[in-house]
Amino acid sequence: MVKLHAVITGVGGYVPNYLLTNEEISAYVDTSDEWIQQRIGIKERRILKPEEGIGVSYLAQKAIEDLQSKQPFNPLEIEAIIFATSTPDYILPGAASLVAFKTGMNNAFGFDLSAACSGFIYALETANNFILSGRYKKVIVIAGDVLSTVTDTMDRNTCPIFSDACGVVLVEAKESKEGIIDAVLHVDGDSVENLHMLGGGSVNPASHETVDKRMHYIWQNGKVVFKKAVTSMADACNEIIQRNNITKDDVKWIVPHQANLRIIEAVASRLDVPISKVMVNIEKYGNSSAGTIPLCLWNWEKIMRKGDNVILTAFGAGYTWGAIYLKWGYNA
Ligand code: UT7
Repeated sequence: MVKLHAVITGVGGYVPNYLLTNEEISAYVDTSDEWIQQRIGIKERRILKPEEGIGVSYLAQKAIEDLQSKQPFNPLEIEAIIFATSTPDYILPGAASLVAFKTGMNNAFGFDLSAACSGFIYALETANNFILSGRYKKVIVIAGDVLSTVTDTMDRNTCPIFSDACGVVLVEAKESKEGIIDAVLHVDGDSVENLHMLGGGSVNPASHETVDKRMHYIWQNGKVVFKKAVTSMADACNEIIQRNNITKDDVKWIVPHQANLRIIEAVASRLDVPISKVMVNIEKYGNSSAGTIPLCLWNWEKIMRKGDNVILTAFGAGYTWGAIYLKWGYNA
């Protein structure tokens, strides 16, 4: 019997024009192109400059235009917009509201979802369950960040890593074998000490003091986060592989959050899968938080085939982490 599934039926992406090189970063913090490439795996990343546009909704609009150019759809048919981001245009109104207005999705409801670098997989599982409820047939999942607005350009532990980008997927209800099969998601609330941005919320609302103390930037204890990212993503992938009675050889693609090439390689090694099965574009685009996974799907869209077994995995502040198992829905 063919079941109802939530299927990704199109992917769009956008990276801003400005290309920030390792050389340029080396001019303002004590680092080097060689160190960044060896320890993080990034050669260059994109940054949104005000000359080009402002706000994550600008990136989302561009990503939706890209999706529309390949997979045209009537914006009025979209029933829900889920926008995973940690850098909305404003605290309120939400970025999903701005996107609805800018793209003419006037029949949808929409909201922002905050799960840091795991935002895309959280949002996709949310869309999945809206569709499985039977009430919705077309949902847009957007995930992206303008991390340059919360990056301390004086902190060499973070400024070479972070970037700006946005991806979007159209998720539709279909009676088919393809689509989202399973999700394993976690949150433990344990990242306040080692991965945080403490200013601007209800504990430390913006003040002269929070600005002076550089509390409106992301800060991390890189080593602690690194280890937890590797074990959490590998464990989530193993859990989803086992409970769906598949083997690692049945998996065509692993799509990991792009935080550090060495994290990605360590996850692949723990899973015992060759790196050729793992989507990696961190060298070109850096870590755009919620944006990295859809940006990989955007880059690999032409290569993936209908029915391919794909596992998405992410880890981020919260801590939030998990994995999604899906069967790819189409040949581009
Ligand atoms: O998206 C989720 C959130 N973030 C992540 O998942 C990132 C997780 N962490 C990391 O990617 C890595 O821990 C970093 C890239 C942040 C740091 O790499 P590392 O290999 O863990 O470096 P480290 O902190 O152990 O530092 C090694 C050395 C230190 O020097 P000493 O003490 O050995 O003399 C650092 O001061 O490298 C130094 N260092 C740097 N040197 C040049 C740290 N950052 C830099 C830098 N350039 N940018």
